[in-house]
Amino acid sequence: MKRIFSGVQPTGNLHLGNYLGAIKNWVSLQKDFECIFCIVDLHAITIKQDPKELESNTLEVTAAYLASGINPKKTIIFNQSSVYAHTELTWLLSCFTPIGWLNRMTQFKEKAGKKKDAAVLGLYSYPVLMASDILAYKATHVPVGEDQKQHLELARDIANTFNQTYSNNFFPLPEPQIFGEATRVMSLRNGEDKMSKSDESDYSRINITDTKDLINLKIQKAKTDPHSLPSKKEELENRPEAANLLGIYSALKNEKLDKVIKEMSGKDFLSFKKLLAELTISKIEPISKKMNDYLKNKDYLKKILKEGKEKADDISSKNLLEIKKIIGLLII
Ligand code: TYM
Repeated sequence: MKRIFSGVQPTGNLHLGNYLGAIKNWVSLQKDFECIFCIVDLHAITIKQDPKELESNTLEVTAAYLASGINPKKTIIFNQSSVYAHTELTWLLSCFTPIGWLNRMTQFKEKAGKKKDAAVLGLYSYPVLMASDILAYKATHVPVGEDQKQHLELARDIANTFNQTYSNNFFPLPEPQIFGEATRVMSLRNGEDKMSKSDESDYSRINITDTKDLINLKIQKAKTDPHSLPSKKEELENRPEAANLLGIYSALKNEKLDKVIKEMSGKDFLSFKKLLAELTISKIEPISKKMNDYLKNKDYLKKILKEGKEKADDISSKNLLEIKKIIGLLII
């Protein structure tokens, strides 16, 4: 059986990186897979959150999923904290995770910065919670952006350790699905940095909720280089900003990068940016409009989450029980 699990943190605005690296791909995967898409609120609290904002961001991400084309009739949508198996399995799997593996995680190093000792335990053990999200459903495939690759490798290692400990194949080893022309969307202010919710400059990213005018302005202001657009992929090597903008264009247009490079070859940035802004607005505006409509009906969004929670609970509680039995925990 092929089953997908993936998730997004409800921390602030969703941006073009989340959309192109993850959510856009999820929509098409619904055809061939049983899908479970989560709003990972427990991951969000590894960094300080305002309680009111966390709650409203959870509904916003739910609305963004629906507005992008995730179909709640086919796909399970729920928020992580509503299903207890995630946290319980995190404890169990943390007993199969050597500390040395966690010490290698680059995201922890980046987020904790120089104040490693002051970082909270949850931020450090975050990848074990992520492994539990996936393994609680015995998911076989995980569609994510490039930045989650290391966490997924860890999830596979944990699953493998569990299987080997008990000489079984209880957990499938989850396969990463990192595809499309924008697996790592970069900041509009600096082509060497990832586009991220935590960047101080709002001009570094395009938010799904940005107005037409703001999208135009952000693209106009995006950093470029003094050359015109290249005719070959190889010529993008030391031109991170050009590579990023062309990657965004081809992902939004659903065209291969090579084809887009041919089309745009020799154009100056001014005219390319005009096309890019038009294309971005044409893809993002309908999503933000639908999102706003969904957000007017919070009861409907909560109903979707509740139905999703029940289905998610059903699958994960059965798996959790099996796991506890395998470990030898007495079930009363
Ligand atoms: P999060 O909330 O940071 O990001 C959600 C998804 O968006 C992708 N992404 C990007 N893709 C391309 N370019 C970018 N600049 C960019 N920024 C973000 C991420 O790769 C991700 O797919 N730990 C995860 C959430 C999570 C999860 C899981 C994912 C929790 N449990 C289980 C898969 C399976 C995270 O923080 O994603």
